[in-house]
Amino acid sequence: MSSTVLEIKNLHVSIEDKEILKGVNLTVKSGEFHAIMGPNGTGKSTLASAIMGHPNYEVTEGTIKLDGEDVLEMEVDERARVGLFLAMQYPSEISGVTTSDFLRSAINAKREEGDEIPLMNFIKKLDWDLEYLDIDKNMATRYLNEGFSGGEKKRNEILQLLQLKPDIAILDEIDSGLDIDALKVVSKGINKMRSDNFGCLIITHYQRLLNYITPDFVHVMMQGRVVKSDGPELAKRLEAEGYEWIKEELGIEDEETAEQNA
Ligand SMILES: Nc1ncnc2c1ncn2[C@@H]1O[C@H](COP(=O)(O)OP(=O)(O)OP(=O)(O)O)[C@@H](O)[C@H]1O
Ligand SMILES: [Mg+2]
Repeated sequence: MSSTVLEIKNLHVSIEDKEILKGVNLTVKSGEFHAIMGPNGTGKSTLASAIMGHPNYEVTEGTIKLDGEDVLEMEVDERARVGLFLAMQYPSEISGVTTSDFLRSAINAKREEGDEIPLMNFIKKLDWDLEYLDIDKNMATRYLNEGFSGGEKKRNEILQLLQLKPDIAILDEIDSGLDIDALKVVSKGINKMRSDNFGCLIITHYQRLLNYITPDFVHVMMQGRVVKSDGPELAKRLEAEGYEWIKEELGIEDEETAEQNA
């Protein structure tokens, strides 16, 4: 059994000189499911992009470590190789590369040279996962995400998750735009990954996903920081009451008010 720890400390991230993340602290270990909730524009996707090394996001302070190794020093493809995975809020279309080819190269990129996955094994596992996720087989031969519906893209992200078996996954609004059946299938896929060797950070706006996937921890992100962490009951309270009570409880001012008072 291997245990993996993703440790984010005092992370500050800017986009075009505007500071978006203002000191994020968060630790995700394999075996744990974490949910991050929070109002629009508070930096949840920015956190995901910074972990994966998106070039537009400049880390100005703080650290991201995976088992003590400095993730910020790693190239983007290296981050995937060491076991990190991101399902993006808006998955990109890759014209000219089929879903199947994409998956096979991504799997092989994580393996040693000369130890590529045998084609038959790949096809067998792919067929199995497609069926498990109730995805049309033709999808594998279509260009990745090109012309996929919103829900099909999300299902495809979960296909990648099952195929690549990362140690730590960040799922950014994997539930957005899903119909009820798709929500169940996507949840089934994520739950299938549950093991001592897999940790997950689920960014979501809705408790409904968490009815299917029980998180061990729920974090609230506001104004570029994780301001509150608790158990799954926190998500239920947010769903019922929104975010105002947290601002009051923690004495957080609205950003405009804070700027005026500064
Ligand atoms: N490339 C960019 N250029 C300029 N501003 C950006 C860029 N990317 C993000 N931002 C800004 O950073 C802030 C945080 O955005 P982010 O996407 O991280 O929010 P979020 O918490 O994921 O919101 P949502 O819940 O709506 O997905 C927003 O104000 C957004 O406009
Ligand atoms: Mg977002």
